[in-house]
Amino acid sequence: MNVLDSELATSGLLQLGLTVAGSLRDADVILFNTCSIRQHAEDKVYSALGRLTDWKGRNPHAVLGVLGCMAQKDQRLIFRRAPHVDFVLGPGQLDRLPSVVQTLLDAKTADRTPQKELLVGLPRQQWKHREVVESFRRYDPIRPVETRPRRFQALVRTMFGCDKFCTYCIVPSVRGPEQSRSPQEILDEVKTLTDQGALEITLIGQTVNSYRFKDGEKTTRLPDLLARIAEIADVRRIRFVTNYPTGMDDDLLRAVRDLPKVCKHLHVPAQSGSDAVLKRMKRNYTVDDYRQLVDRIYGTIPEASMTSDFIVGFCGETEAEFTETVDLVKHGRFKNSFIFKYSERPGTKSAELFTDDVPETVKKRRNNELLAVQDSVSLELNRRFIGRTVEVLVEGPDVSGNRLTGRTPCDRVVVFDGALSLVGTFIELAIADAAPFTLFGVRGEGLETCNSSPPP
Ligand code: 5AD
Ligand code: SF4
Repeated sequence: MNVLDSELATSGLLQLGLTVAGSLRDADVILFNTCSIRQHAEDKVYSALGRLTDWKGRNPHAVLGVLGCMAQKDQRLIFRRAPHVDFVLGPGQLDRLPSVVQTLLDAKTADRTPQKELLVGLPRQQWKHREVVESFRRYDPIRPVETRPRRFQALVRTMFGCDKFCTYCIVPSVRGPEQSRSPQEILDEVKTLTDQGALEITLIGQTVNSYRFKDGEKTTRLPDLLARIAEIADVRRIRFVTNYPTGMDDDLLRAVRDLPKVCKHLHVPAQSGSDAVLKRMKRNYTVDDYRQLVDRIYGTIPEASMTSDFIVGFCGETEAEFTETVDLVKHGRFKNSFIFKYSERPGTKSAELFTDDVPETVKKRRNNELLAVQDSVSLELNRRFIGRTVEVLVEGPDVSGNRLTGRTPCDRVVVFDGALSLVGTFIELAIADAAPFTLFGVRGEGLETCNSSPPP
């Protein structure tokens, strides 16, 4: 979500005639697009802002702004902690970014000291729903291709905000109420993106499978949207993230199974394997519901790859409750999981109702233990690919810069030797070796190819 917001912010500023600076030294405007999901993300921004104090002293005409979820959450606190910041602008006010930056640049060029600007949405608890919705303004302009890291991959927002209010999560207050975009708007955007060269479209939403747009009698849901996007000839692959477990209905699973362009990869965060913890998290499902969902997914789409998110060390999590999470990771056969240590967020229900009582050392140990279990599951699943052929979309050089990486429809990264001219194309690779996070592929002859379908 933040990557897309950065693209939109950049495109607004390009329209002002600004260009992307090569380095801090060349910049007239510096923006931080921030995240509030965990304390660590915020700490990093405050220390980065601190490091710019001297730079700002030497460059009084430069503009320094803080965007994103931390802007919405901390508001004026940012000016107090970092007095050299000129403006703070939340995720629901991106449409105003160009005018704010222009006003500040004009004032500074004219040697005036401009007022600090604070632009944020209304707090959800204290205002009427409609007023709050209106205060989180939607902004999805056509963006130039150079705002994207890769021309051939594009993110498309299906919906804003979240209404789930999991007790640990800050997102519903900083991104505002759930609002789905109209299917026509989404389809038009996808067509523009494919005209710019996009081959792979990733639909995003905080709970993308809650997507629902009502137009008179007709309601469009995610499976309908997938089918309509699949009809666009130049779209080669469609992905969607993030799913809420209770919204994985059979219509959606059938759409994923039956639409060849839809990648058979489902990211469905479980968060915990303990009923008591799920209840404290207000996740609205039981572990048994989630296990049944896993079975239903593999039953409907045998080649599906699943991924998940887990929080360890949530308030009151006992050793026995943690062990239940370990069991779920084994049962889920996830390709990989994103594992986080619980981080208390002021303003959330869990901060108000519970004590953050699992010591940091215990959180760390549980995090490492769960990662180790997940790694062995990942390795076992990845090893099944050895000797098989997969199709990848080539993404670019690997970390060493000497080899290339590509991604399979099931979201596995394959490292292989090849020419840079392959970037942005689809190729077949024979898998020669596997690690927990990576497959190693060979082009052409090297290996005998078995078949092109992923393993069961
Ligand atoms: N502490 C730790 N992890 C969190 N997440 C959300 N809020 C918190 C928090 N307060 C995790 C969840 C979510 C992912 C994006 O971040 O696992 O799925
Ligand atoms: Fe946060 Fe829960 Fe909404 Fe996901 S579904 S964004 S975890 S409140």
